[in-house]
Amino acid sequence: MKLLVTGGSGFIGANFIKYWLEKYSADDLVNLDALTYAGNPDNLNGFEKNSRYSFIKGNICDPAVVSKAIKGAEVVVHFAAETHVDRSILKPSLFLKTNILGTQILLEAAVKNKIRHFHHISTDEVYGSLNLKSKEKFNEKTRYNPRSPYAASKAAADHLVLAYHETYGLAATITNCSNNFGPYQHPEKLIPLAITNLLQGKKVPVYGDGQNIRDWLYVSDHCRAIDSVIKKGKCGEIYCVGGLKQDISNLEVIRKIVKLLNCRESQIEFVKDRPGHDRKYAIDWTKINRELGWQPEEDFEERLKETAEWYVRNEAWWRKLKGKNFQVFYRRNYKKL
Ligand code: NAD
Ligand code: TYD
Repeated sequence: MKLLVTGGSGFIGANFIKYWLEKYSADDLVNLDALTYAGNPDNLNGFEKNSRYSFIKGNICDPAVVSKAIKGAEVVVHFAAETHVDRSILKPSLFLKTNILGTQILLEAAVKNKIRHFHHISTDEVYGSLNLKSKEKFNEKTRYNPRSPYAASKAAADHLVLAYHETYGLAATITNCSNNFGPYQHPEKLIPLAITNLLQGKKVPVYGDGQNIRDWLYVSDHCRAIDSVIKKGKCGEIYCVGGLKQDISNLEVIRKIVKLLNCRESQIEFVKDRPGHDRKYAIDWTKINRELGWQPEEDFEERLKETAEWYVRNEAWWRKLKGKNFQVFYRRNYKKL
């Protein structure tokens, strides 16, 4: 089987490509990625020699590029997106272009090329924000209520995927997952930002009171969930994917990292809150468990330790990403820090 993976040079996409090529030795895979600031060829170092892997540098918003990349593929796994909420607040238009228009161009090509299965990677952020004290969790029936330009663009893309399923009969599925963590995550996101800032002797910026809660999902658990949906999922369906059994605040996550790296709590700096900052995400993954037999298997504490160790060992990888352009974004986003 041949798969077209979009955004395979980013964090989750690269982990997924490694996972898939290792597990399915008869499959071929094409990675279409524009190599934006978040796309990094180093994430797939050595894979250029793998005869089952090929790479096309190109933008999903370009119909000609997409039409070429999709030729011969049976399955499309769509990761490519602008993904950082803070950047979506600074420059929403790019998010609308890539996440909405880019998805529509891919869907169009998928219909034209009679793709057997189109799988779209989405986020729990489309559901909005839970109250901090609430025991409620998002599930597949939760009303969409996106509250950031990023979340709104992902919500629009989800609607388009389902519309193409209903209107054109495209065999499509969606996973709405929680915050991933693990190796190869760009150091703009909370966990790698905290680890790398501490390793650089810098402060770790915590938005607001640090009490916001995210549902952390280890990236390999996520790859297995996507695998289950591609192999056994029902078309036209959404599956929610989450990782945590217990609520944990951002501040607690950062304190754990500070401890793992033998740093000082004085390196934690409370900064002005992110506008529209969602208070809490929590995912009910009963449906994917009941219907497809998936459940998260990784232990948060163990994987957090392993992730911190990965960043310690791979300093050359993340140093490159924290260069001049990153500093421009950082100063703009965090002002005084
Ligand atoms: P990432 O930012 O690390 O990588 C995104 C990749 O997409 C990069 O390689 C980038 O070059 C590529 N890309 C961006 N615009 C493109 C374009 N126009 N054409 C082609 N390629 C383009 O993202 P990630 O964290 O790996 O997220 C992957 C997917 O998972 C996204 O759709 C995201 O919305 C979703 N998701 C991520 C998380 C998370 O915690 N990281 C959680 C839920 C959902
Ligand atoms: P992030 O990794 O940006 O993911 P998302 O916004 O998609 O959930 O942020 C995770 C949480 O950490 C979120 O509540 C915002 C918070 N956060 C900080 O407190 N400081 C930071 O510097 C960043 C990047 C995030």
